[in-house]
Amino acid sequence: MLSGKSILITGSNRGIGFELSRMILHQEGKLLMACRDMRAGQEAADALKKDVRKGDITLKYMDYTRPETLSALVKDVSEEMKQPLDCLVNNGAIIGNGWDKETYDLTLRTNFKGPLELTTEFAPHMAPGSSIVQVSSGFGELSYCSEGYRERITSAKTLDQLWDQCKEIDVSSSMASENKPCYKVSKAMLNQSVRIQAPKLAECGIACNAVTPGWCRTRMGGPEAPRSAAQGAESILWVILNGSVASGVTGGFWKDGQPKDW
Ligand SMILES: NC(=O)c1ccc[n+]([C@@H]2O[C@H](COP(=O)([O-])OP(=O)(O)OC[C@H]3O[C@@H](n4cnc5c(N)ncnc54)[C@H](OP(=O)(O)O)[C@@H]3O)[C@@H](O)[C@H]2O)c1
Repeated sequence: MLSGKSILITGSNRGIGFELSRMILHQEGKLLMACRDMRAGQEAADALKKDVRKGDITLKYMDYTRPETLSALVKDVSEEMKQPLDCLVNNGAIIGNGWDKETYDLTLRTNFKGPLELTTEFAPHMAPGSSIVQVSSGFGELSYCSEGYRERITSAKTLDQLWDQCKEIDVSSSMASENKPCYKVSKAMLNQSVRIQAPKLAECGIACNAVTPGWCRTRMGGPEAPRSAAQGAESILWVILNGSVASGVTGGFWKDGQPKDW
């Protein structure tokens, strides 16, 4: 079903992104693996080539914490490819623990600002019928945020407002007693960005959805997780295959093909 379609996946050298890459190749898609560690990316691409022997792989460099690499990626891909990108999957992320300025800044930069910049820069180069997938988390549900953060996030009606209202850590927030608090805020913000961006992108025929892979056995999820990385990737694959403005699958938050509460 993805034959000939171009799909760019960030953070695809390991974990869920790697398993998703394998699935794209099995469906004979044109896979663009975007990684911040080119050596790890090359090893992953070689392993997939050897294993799958279908589809097409191009390896690209990007790092969400270095904005110039995001602009360079968009320019490079848009100039190089004969057709516009069919699907952008913002999958790469970090989970860091603690409630301090350094962790907060790095987590928001990696999990929210970077994916958002890549989305906003790629969108003008995407055609009607294409799709953007923001890989979020169950931890991105608003119920995990303190009342103060919930208010800051949900009251934002534009991306600038969302950033302005959340960019500084509130060290006195009750988030401090949460597990993985910066990650939770970053993914709740990513979800809100989908709600803000989806209607505008839909006017251009571009779908935009958030999806959670569920708790999976990866470096991030740890060995105790109940799901395999491949099961998590399946949840994302469903959105890649079904996200479309024409069919109304846009502006949602999904898990295993089912809508999920924000
Ligand atoms: N695993 C779970 O239980 C779970 C649950 C819910 C949601 N998720 C979400 O699923 C996605 C994939 O998670 P995973 O479990 O596969 O994680 P993972 O195994 O830790 O892999 C994370 C990927 O993100 C990349 N990455 C980290 N920082 C980056 C940056 N600054 N720029 C670009 N790429 C960067 C990593 O690259 P390096 O190899 O260079 O570090 C790696 O390829 C994430 O968005 C995560 O939040 C995971």
